[in-house]
Amino acid sequence: MTDLVETARARFTELYGRAPQGIWSAPGRVNLIGEHTDYNDGFVFLFAIDRRTVAALALRDDRTVRLTSSFTDEIVETTLADLGPGGAHGWQNYPLGVAWALSQSGLGQLGADLDAVPGFDLYLDSDVPVGAGLSSSAAIESAVAVALNDVWRLDLDRNALVKAGHIAENEVVGAPTGILDQSASLLGRLDCGIFIDCRSLERDVIPLGFDEAGLEVLVMDTKVEHEHAAGGYAARRASCEAGARELGVESLREVSISDLPRAREVLDGETFRRVRHVVTENQRVLDTVRTLREQGPRAIGDLMDASHRSLRDDFEVSVPQLDLAVEISQNYGAIGARMTGGGFGGSAIALVPRELISHVEAAVDGAFAEHGYAQPDLFAVVPSDGARRDE
Ligand code: GLA
Repeated sequence: MTDLVETARARFTELYGRAPQGIWSAPGRVNLIGEHTDYNDGFVFLFAIDRRTVAALALRDDRTVRLTSSFTDEIVETTLADLGPGGAHGWQNYPLGVAWALSQSGLGQLGADLDAVPGFDLYLDSDVPVGAGLSSSAAIESAVAVALNDVWRLDLDRNALVKAGHIAENEVVGAPTGILDQSASLLGRLDCGIFIDCRSLERDVIPLGFDEAGLEVLVMDTKVEHEHAAGGYAARRASCEAGARELGVESLREVSISDLPRAREVLDGETFRRVRHVVTENQRVLDTVRTLREQGPRAIGDLMDASHRSLRDDFEVSVPQLDLAVEISQNYGAIGARMTGGGFGGSAIALVPRELISHVEAAVDGAFAEHGYAQPDLFAVVPSDGARRDE
């Protein structure tokens, strides 16, 4: 982390010919449990990881905005007046979108007046792997949000910054996403998870106790990118909506485990299994939070395992590589394991005693080679602090 901050300061100075005014950073996230529940008004329990995006930034005395990152040689130049939807940029839409979003109503608080604030130079660097489902985009948004909140002296609270990231993603980047990722990135706390009720948007920071229990979370990125991911995701959402409609409820959040026998009579087999996943997964999120409180982290493994089975068999969003990663990690000492994220590829996670991490890694690597699968990317993460100023 210090390395990223040092490098960002040096690169910023080299590129823009002056030192940055400050350096801020924000983490990616991992979803511990609660999959395909968010768009059903359900529960999610996720945490910020120790992989971060850093933003080195300095205000200018004009309205120009310049930005670049460690991933490109190009410096993009625009002005505050040109920010907003329709911005013809690529990844730059994330940081530029946030700068614009901070001026929008809908933050719940007064934001920036883009006619009155100065432009800025920005440099971004990150060790959040891109494409592994760890929300590198929320890390960028949140780092830029806290940086601009400081230098523009906006005094917005974290909830408003979550909304700014959400506005940027939905209106500038054009991705119809929720508030989960920004919530984890902005509200994360060392060794804590963030419980989110997606209906009320209430959030709760809950101690995980992984550190004391000697546990780490192994991320197993299968590198599989399924061609049907987008279509499959949309189809699952449609099934959930159809299920809710047929059961006469607004969302599957209103369906409880005791309603399942009736649901089985009313719904066709496939829709029933989709519904059963969502209903049982919501319960597993609540059970995970309760179990952590009552028995500690070593007791949540079965819930993670059950979540994976439900995603595999009822929701049918797993792939053989995810199943293998889960199964091998379980066999070699993980306390619990499951796919994480939307599925059809991407990453699985395993809760592993610290001393067994390399043992599990070797086993998973070996099993993937044996099956002729591409080598997975394996790395341990620990639940970490959310966005902050580093310098
Ligand atoms: C994707 C979406 C999330 C969520 C997960 C499944 O990652 O971006 O909003 O729906 O799938 O839990």
